[in-house]
Amino acid sequence: EESSTLSITVVGASGDLAKKKIFPALFALFYEGCLPQDFSVFGYARTKLTHEELRVMISRTLTCRIDQRENCVDKMDQFLKRCFYHSGQYNSEDDFAELNTKLKEKEVYLSNRLYYLSIPPNIFVDVVRCASLRASSVNGWTRVIVEKPFGRDSESSGGLTRCLKQYLTEEQIFRIDHYLGKELVENLSVLRFSNLVFEPLWSRNYIRNVQLIFSEDFGTEGRGGYFDQYGIIRDIMQNHLLQILALFAMETPVSLDAEDIRSEKVKVLRSMKPLLLQDMIVGQYKGHSKGGKAYPGYTDDPTVPKNSLTPTFAAAAMFINNARWDGVPFLMKAGKALHTRGAEIRVQFRHVPGNLYKKNFATDLDKATNELVIRVQPDEGIYLRINNKVPGLGMRLDRSDLNLLYRSRYPREIPDAYERLLLDAIEGERRLFIRSDELDAAWDLFTPALKELEQKKIVPELYPYGSRGPVGAHYLASKYNVRWGDLEDA
Ligand code: BG6
Repeated sequence: EESSTLSITVVGASGDLAKKKIFPALFALFYEGCLPQDFSVFGYARTKLTHEELRVMISRTLTCRIDQRENCVDKMDQFLKRCFYHSGQYNSEDDFAELNTKLKEKEVYLSNRLYYLSIPPNIFVDVVRCASLRASSVNGWTRVIVEKPFGRDSESSGGLTRCLKQYLTEEQIFRIDHYLGKELVENLSVLRFSNLVFEPLWSRNYIRNVQLIFSEDFGTEGRGGYFDQYGIIRDIMQNHLLQILALFAMETPVSLDAEDIRSEKVKVLRSMKPLLLQDMIVGQYKGHSKGGKAYPGYTDDPTVPKNSLTPTFAAAAMFINNARWDGVPFLMKAGKALHTRGAEIRVQFRHVPGNLYKKNFATDLDKATNELVIRVQPDEGIYLRINNKVPGLGMRLDRSDLNLLYRSRYPREIPDAYERLLLDAIEGERRLFIRSDELDAAWDLFTPALKELEQKKIVPELYPYGSRGPVGAHYLASKYNVRWGDLEDA
C-alpha cells in the first residue's frame, strides 16, 4: 500500500486519555517505525488551538517508554510535523466536513482513516454520525476506536450498539479494552496453548479456584464525576477482569484468527451464570489519616454526591457451567484506594492426594498447594509456587517459586497496551477488540446484580483509604473455601 495515506484523528484531543495514552502511543509507534510512510495525526476538539499549541501539548506529555531514548528529540520533531489540529463541535456535520477537506489535503491517492473517540459516551453517536457522513474515506477504509463505558447495562449497551450500527458496520467498530493489550494478558494464550505442561491441568480436575485481582493505591482523584455514574463493577470487573477470565477459561480456538478467538470467548461468557447479589460484596473507601497525612474518602471528592452509594471496591464469585469448569469458583476482586497497586491472576491448584510429605511441612497443608501467579502489573512476571526440600540433612519442606521475572529476562521490552491496540486497529487485526456479541454476553452477566444493588440501595462496607479493603471480601471467599492470595507475597 505504498500510495496510501493513513490519517488518525483523535477526537477529544485535549482530554486526559489522549494526552496520557494515545499521543504517546502514536509517537512510540512512529519511533519504532510501525506507522506507514505516509501518515498524519489530527487532533479534534472544541477548544480553539493552533497546530503549534497541539504540538506543544503532545511533546510535553510524552510519558512513554521511548522517553530518553536515542534520537528521541529528533524523532519527536519529525512526528510533530505530521500532527495537526482542527477545532469543531462534536455534533456538527459542517465541522466534520471541514475536517474532511483538511484530511484530503494530506491524502495522496488511497486514504485510510482511523478515528479514536476519546470522548464521553453521551457524544459517541453524534461524532460517529458526523464523521461517517462527512469525513469517511471514499476509497480506503474508515475505522472507529471506541473506549468504554459502552452503556451501563444490557439495555443501554444494546442501544448504543444499535445507534453506532446505523452509521458503521461491525467491522468498522473497534471497541477497546486496554487490558487486552497488556503483555501478560496477551501471553495467557501462549502460556496455555504453546506449552505442554499447563493445559492438561487447566480444568476442575486440578484447579481449585482462580482469582482475578485488581488493586489501585489511589482514589478517584478528579475522575469522580465519571466514576460515580459507573462504579468499580462497571469500571473494572465487567470488562477488564471478565476479559481476562474469558481468555483464561476458553477452549482452544480453531485458529488464531480474530473471529475464532472471539467466538471461544463468547462461548465461555455465555456458559457463565449471571452474578447473584449474594455472591458479591461492595465497599467504598472512607477518609483515613496515616503518618500525619490525611487521605480523603470517596465522598470527599467534590464531584461525588455526599450520599453516594457507588462501590469503589467489589468482590464477586462467578461460575462457568461447562464440563471444564463446573463448580470452580472464579473470584474477582477490584478496588481503588487500597494498600497497593497491582493486577494478578492467581490459580490455586488442588491438594496432592495422599501426600507423603504431610508431616514435613512447616506451614499447614492448605497453604502448601501449588499456585500459579501471573502478575499483569506492576513488575510483570509469572511464577509457580512449588514445595521444595530445604537443603540439609533433615527433611523439611518449604514453599518456593519457579520464577520468570520480566524485568530480568526481557529488560525494557514492554510496550504500552495502547501501542499494541492502535497498531492492531491500523492493521485491521480485531483479535484484541470486543465484538458486539461478547459485549452483550458480558453485560448479561452483571446487569441483574447491578440493578438489584441500585434498587435495594445496598450500602457499601466502608474501608479506610490505603487499607486492604472490607473484610466482607474474606467472608465471601471463605464461603467457597477460598483464601485470597496476597499481591505482595512474591
Ligand atoms: C480504566 C479505568 O479502564 O483502567 C480506571 O477506567 C483505571 O479507573 C484504569 O484506573 C486502570 O488501568 P491501568 O492500565 O492503569 O491498570
